[in-house]
Amino acid sequence: MKCVPAASPRLVLVCGMKRKPGAQNPSCGPLGSEELRHFLKQELKAQGLWRKQIRVATVDCLGICSGQGVSVQFPGDERVWIVDATGEREAVLARILATFPD
Ligand code: FES
Repeated sequence: MKCVPAASPRLVLVCGMKRKPGAQNPSCGPLGSEELRHFLKQELKAQGLWRKQIRVATVDCLGICSGQGVSVQFPGDERVWIVDATGEREAVLARILATFPD
C-alpha cells in the first residue's frame, strides 16, 4: 500500500448507476446524474474551485436506490441526499459552496 495526498480535499459523490431495464432496484443515472455532475463541474470551475478545492465524482451506487431522485453525498456529511437533478441543482450547488469557509 502507498499513501499519496488526495487530488482534492473535498469530494462530492453523485450516483450515476444505470441498471439494465427490468432490474429489481431503480437507478439514479436515468434521473439526471450526468447532467447534474456536468452542471456542478461547470459552476465550480467558474468559481475557480474545481480540482484543487473540490471534485464531483460519479459512483455506481450509494446504496439508497430510491427511484425518486439522484443520490448525492456531500463532503463531511454522513447522510445521503436524494435530489431532483434539475429542479434542485442550484440548491445542491449552494450546499457544496457552504462547505467552504468565508
Ligand atoms: S442506484 Fe443510486 S443510490 Fe443506488
